[in-house]
Amino acid sequence: MPIHALVDLPAPAKLNLFLHVVGRRDDGYHLLQSVFVLIDWCDTLHVERRGDGRLARHDLGRALPADDLTLRAARLLQAESGTTAGADLSIDKRVPWGAGLGGGSSDAATTLLALNQLWGLHWPRARLLALAARLGADVPFFVGGRNAFVEGIGERLTPVELTPAWYAVVKPAATIATPTVFADPSLVRDTEAVILSGFFEDTGQRAESGEGRGVAVLAQGFGRNDLQPVAERHCPEVAEVRRWLESRFGNGRMTGSGSAVFARAGTADRPDATLPAQFPAPGWEGRMCRGLPEHPLVHWAG
Ligand code: C5P
Repeated sequence: MPIHALVDLPAPAKLNLFLHVVGRRDDGYHLLQSVFVLIDWCDTLHVERRGDGRLARHDLGRALPADDLTLRAARLLQAESGTTAGADLSIDKRVPWGAGLGGGSSDAATTLLALNQLWGLHWPRARLLALAARLGADVPFFVGGRNAFVEGIGERLTPVELTPAWYAVVKPAATIATPTVFADPSLVRDTEAVILSGFFEDTGQRAESGEGRGVAVLAQGFGRNDLQPVAERHCPEVAEVRRWLESRFGNGRMTGSGSAVFARAGTADRPDATLPAQFPAPGWEGRMCRGLPEHPLVHWAG
């Protein structure tokens, strides 16, 4: 029996615990090393089958650009699979964009995972991952579904296990376009590459090579975000948020290409400190987030 609809599908945001630019490809894309962690700040998607083959998007929360990444993901999967079915995609957008939180990429990944079920395609994860890489550098991580050490331009994923932690995540009013940051001549592009076991605290457990899960605690504050100095120059509000978080939590670092900044806030049941009900400047938005052990839909692809 074909599935008619799938509702309340989460698309979680991510943080980059560190982000190193270790080189550049001939096509201009940057080679990265980063640990990506999923957090419980989510968009919600609903998908419904259409018999007429059309793809339509409906914005339940904030309005999205007309041809966003979810529609492009749906169109690509429809074309590559040859299905005659279409879909209505409804999106309740909660995660701010232009923030480095991966919201749009996560929506696209959830779309791929959902339509794979809705259309009865039964594509294995590896095939969805190849499609994801064509949509954007962050999309494979969300299709992979596990916190990961990410390399290449975002397509090389090594799952890692992280201690569940709290993060204060705050985005200033300003947004940042990713290409602006990557195109800046002053961007550091030659950070020395690390090896997987090199940045984890020695807790007696070591990274297993290859498939490697079973990695333990990321050393507090390891590394840096190489995109941060560039983003702070383009957008002084990023530095303002960082300094404000540092004063409250003792640490602060930008995620992705910004403009959101996060602070580690402990690993106990409750965070060590919290965000106030009101932010000090207009247009800032943020919340306390928990790191997720894995993507809620991780088992939707085999
Ligand atoms: O793939 P995505 O759409 O997220 O990337 C947006 C832009 O950011 C790219 O067009 C490219 O200019 C830049 N980028 C890069 N290296 C990466 C990821 C993105 O240069 N690894």
